[in-house]
Amino acid sequence: MPLLCSLVETSKASISKDIDRAVKIISQEDLVAIPTETVYGLAGNIFSEKAIRKIFALKQRPFFNPLIVHIHSMAQFISFVSEIPQKAEKLAEHFWPGPLTLVLKKKAIVPDLVTAGKDTVAVRIPNHPLTLELLKKLDFPIAAPSANPFGRISPTSAEHVAGYFDQNLEMVLDGGECQKGIESTIIGFENDEPIIYRLGSISQDEIEKVIGPLKIKNKNESAPDAPGMLSRHYAPKTKTILVEDIQASIQQFSDQRIGLLTFDQDLDHTSIQHKIILSKNADLDESMSKLYAAMHHLDSLDLDIIIAQLFPDVGLGKSINDRLSRATKS
Ligand code: TXA
Ligand code: MG
Repeated sequence: MPLLCSLVETSKASISKDIDRAVKIISQEDLVAIPTETVYGLAGNIFSEKAIRKIFALKQRPFFNPLIVHIHSMAQFISFVSEIPQKAEKLAEHFWPGPLTLVLKKKAIVPDLVTAGKDTVAVRIPNHPLTLELLKKLDFPIAAPSANPFGRISPTSAEHVAGYFDQNLEMVLDGGECQKGIESTIIGFENDEPIIYRLGSISQDEIEKVIGPLKIKNKNESAPDAPGMLSRHYAPKTKTILVEDIQASIQQFSDQRIGLLTFDQDLDHTSIQHKIILSKNADLDESMSKLYAAMHHLDSLDLDIIIAQLFPDVGLGKSINDRLSRATKS
């Protein structure tokens, strides 16, 4: 094999903190994976058709599924959305920079490819120092879906991203482990009324403290407003089940090599090959931040089955249960 060819084949996505290199790559219409406080994103210039097409191609994401536009300031926000309901403004002021995505009517300047032809655009100001610095150095916003192939577990470390895209991505901007650990909460507006399109790392209760009661869009619609609400999503390759009575399930699958994922319970059985207790102190924030890394790890162990424990259905427990139930749908 010619030397050049073998060099190309073995080159891997470089994991680095070099912001100027990230600026250069994105400015040349290529992609960089970026850290955010939620999960890593696969980022490109929203105005570059080449970059946006590459995002869809790399992720194997259908073109009907729109992307989130990441910005760094309220001034940018105003230049890309055409209507800002009062409650949206309140939420933006309260939670940005942070894990809140607002879906609002777009201005014509936002390319249709980014929004999948919708007349709305999803926007957020992420809260990660490296990515905020990157955004400030660019004179355009970046579109960034989670940096995982369609339907797979979102990445919460630079290594997860490199593991997924390896040869096909030049650079992962290394911002360490994502602090929140699951995606942003998405809020849209219908007739000026706020609706949760996707539960995420801000709980419904926290949102309601700011703008009062709001509805959650039915999760299993066949044509969801946020395709992140598709019922199977965030899925490990290993068969995974979500149960209330974890003891009974261990008994039921005792002839198999089991991986166990629990909230705070510690259980022993000879069939358990590996167990991860997300928070010994039963802390939901801690569990959320470790959830995807735990799923990635258990999925890498070549087990027969992963048995996950249902979380208490309160606060962030609802968001965690949402992700676990999508990961376990067949
Ligand atoms: O935390 C996050 O939100 C991460 C980080 C990287 O920012 N991003 C993320 O992007 O989770 P993605 O593409 O994996 O999920 C975005 C969701 C999708 O379910 C998409 O359908 C929905 O947002 N979405 C985007 N634009 C929309 C729009 N105009 N109307 C309704 N839903 C929209
Ligand atoms: Mg995603």
